[in-house]
Amino acid sequence: MSDHSNPPKTKLRSRAWFDNPDNPDMTALYLERYLNYGISQEELQSGKPIIGIAQTGSDLSPCNRHHLELAKRVRDGIIESGGIPMEFPVHPIQETGKRPTAALDRNLAYLGLVELLYGYPLDGVVLTIGCDKTTPACLMAAATVNIPAIALSVGPMLNGWFRGERTGSGTIVWKAREMMAAGEIDYAGFIKLVASSAPSTGYCNTMGTATTMNSLAEALGMQLPGSAAIPAPYRDRQEVAYKTGKRIVDMVAEDLKPSDIMTRKAFENAIRVNSAIGGSTNAPIHLNAIARHLGVELHIDDWQTLGEEIPLLVNLQPAGEYLGEDYYHAGGVPAVVAQLMGQGLIHEDALTANGKTIGENCRDAEIADANVIKTFDAPLKERAGFRVLRGNLFDSAIMKLSVISPEFRKRYLSNPDDPMAFEGKAVVFDGPEDYHHRIDDPALGIDENTVLFMRGAGPIGYPGAAEVVNMRAPDYLIKRGITSLACVGDGRQSGTSGSPSILNASPEAAAGGGLALLKTGDRVRIDLGRGTADILISDEELAERRLRLEAEGGFPYPDHQTPWQEIQRGLVGQMSTGMCLEMATSYRSVAQTKGLPRDN
Ligand code: FES
Ligand code: MG
Repeated sequence: MSDHSNPPKTKLRSRAWFDNPDNPDMTALYLERYLNYGISQEELQSGKPIIGIAQTGSDLSPCNRHHLELAKRVRDGIIESGGIPMEFPVHPIQETGKRPTAALDRNLAYLGLVELLYGYPLDGVVLTIGCDKTTPACLMAAATVNIPAIALSVGPMLNGWFRGERTGSGTIVWKAREMMAAGEIDYAGFIKLVASSAPSTGYCNTMGTATTMNSLAEALGMQLPGSAAIPAPYRDRQEVAYKTGKRIVDMVAEDLKPSDIMTRKAFENAIRVNSAIGGSTNAPIHLNAIARHLGVELHIDDWQTLGEEIPLLVNLQPAGEYLGEDYYHAGGVPAVVAQLMGQGLIHEDALTANGKTIGENCRDAEIADANVIKTFDAPLKERAGFRVLRGNLFDSAIMKLSVISPEFRKRYLSNPDDPMAFEGKAVVFDGPEDYHHRIDDPALGIDENTVLFMRGAGPIGYPGAAEVVNMRAPDYLIKRGITSLACVGDGRQSGTSGSPSILNASPEAAAGGGLALLKTGDRVRIDLGRGTADILISDEELAERRLRLEAEGGFPYPDHQTPWQEIQRGLVGQMSTGMCLEMATSYRSVAQTKGLPRDN
C-alpha cells in the first residue's frame, strides 16, 4: 500500500540495492538477506522508502534507553505513511558513564553513523537524540551524508524531588558536594540526595547540555515543533514519536534534506535561543561542528555578536529554579522562540522538518507559566549569552557572564575604576587528578582572589576534552563561605554547573596554547569588558618559556590507552572550531557529491 499521492521527487537510493535491473545478481543477494527476518520481496520492491531509525538507546546509555520503546511508535508512523523502518544501533554515548570522557566518543559515533547512512539502503533517517553528545553526533552525521533526516528527542526525566524541593540532575551534585564538605550531610545522605534528581527514564532534567542541545535541535528546525521538551515518560512523547515516523516518509518524498533546514539563518536562530534558554557552554562546540560538516560559516565570535545581549527567559536550574517538566508545561521551545520573534530576533523564514517555517510554527505560541518562561520585557537576567575572551593565554575561550554571583563580583570585580577586570595569582593544575590531590593543600596559598587554572584537559590532552574546569574551592575556603573561585581552563564544564568559569580555551596546552606556558604564582589579568585574558609577563619571558617548552618536546599528556584515542588525537581540531575530525569536514553532502558507494 505505497503512498502514491506523494510521489518522490528523486529516485530512492534504496532502489540501487533492492531493485536494480542492471545488476540482478546483486539485487538478489541484497534482497534475500533482508527477507530473512520476514520483510517480503513485495515490500522491498514496492518503491516504498526505507527509513532508518538510528538507535542511540541501550543499557549502556540510560539517558537514551527509552528510545528502545519510542522506536516502536516511530515504526508505526513510518509504516502508516508508507515507509519501511530499519532500526540499527549507533555507537552508544553515555555522558556520565564513559571514561575518560564521553566527548571522546562524539566523533566516533559520528564516523560510524556516516558510514551507516551512506553505505546501507537508507532513503531517510530518524535520529534518536537525547544525552549530551548523542545529539551533535547524530546531527553531524546527517549533515555530512545529507539524506532526509528528522530528530526525535527522548525527552527529559521527570522532575527530581527531595523534601519538597526540586532536585535537578547534575546541579544537585555540586550543591551536595558543598554540603558534605561543610559537614551538613554524610556520604549516605550525599548519595541519596544526588539520586533523588533522577526519578525516571530520560535525560538530565536541568538546563544542562542535553536540554540545551535538544532545544537547539528544535530551534534549528530538525525536530517537530514543540517536541523537544516533552518529558520522556509522558504519553505525548509516544505520540510525537509516531508523528515523527510519519513525517520522515513525507520528507523523503519532498527530498527535504538537512542542508535545506540547517542554514546559516537556522544557526543564528539557534544561537539566540541558546542565550534565552540559558544554554550550556558546550553548545558552541557542537553547533560549530554541525555547521562545519554542512559547510555553513559559523565562527566562535558569532556567539558573542548574535547571542550575548539576549536575556535569559527560561527559569531552569542551574541558572534558575525549575526543571524539565515545568519547561514543557510552560510552553517549551516554541514559547521561547515566539518571545524572540516579537523582537525581530528570529529569521522567521527558516524552514523546519514539518515543512513549515519556524515563524509559522511558533507565531502563536504562548507562555503558559510565567514563572518558568519569562517574557522578553521582564527577563530573569539581562545578557545571557557568551563573552569571547582572548590574549596570550589562548586564542579564544568563552564565559557566561550571567552566572557571575554578587559575591563573586565583590571579590573579583570590586575595582570601581575597572569593574569588569581583575588580576590574581594563578594556581595551575595539570589535569583533574593533580587538582584533587592538591586543592586542599594550604601550601598552595589559595585565597579568595586566586585564579584556578586547569590544563591538559582538552581534545588532545585529556583526550577528548573533559568537563573538569569548574573546580570547587578548597574546603577551608568553603567553610568560610567562599564557594566559587575564578576558574580558567582548556577543558569544558558541565552544562549542569552554574560556575563562572572561562572555558573551552583554544588552543589547548597540549596543542601549544598559552596555557602551557603558565606557572603557579604568575599574575594573570582577566578583562571581561575588553574580552582579554593574559599572563602578566613580558613578551621576551613568554618567548623564552615557549622555546623551553619546545625543547622539552611540548606539553606532556598521558599515553594513548585505546586505538581510537590515538586516531582522534591525530585528527581532532580545537574546541573553538567544533573539535571536529579535521579531515572529515571536507566531506560535504556525500549522498549528493559522491554518488552511491560501489556494489558489495
Ligand atoms: Fe545523559 Fe545528562 S548525563 S543527559
Ligand atoms: Mg556533560
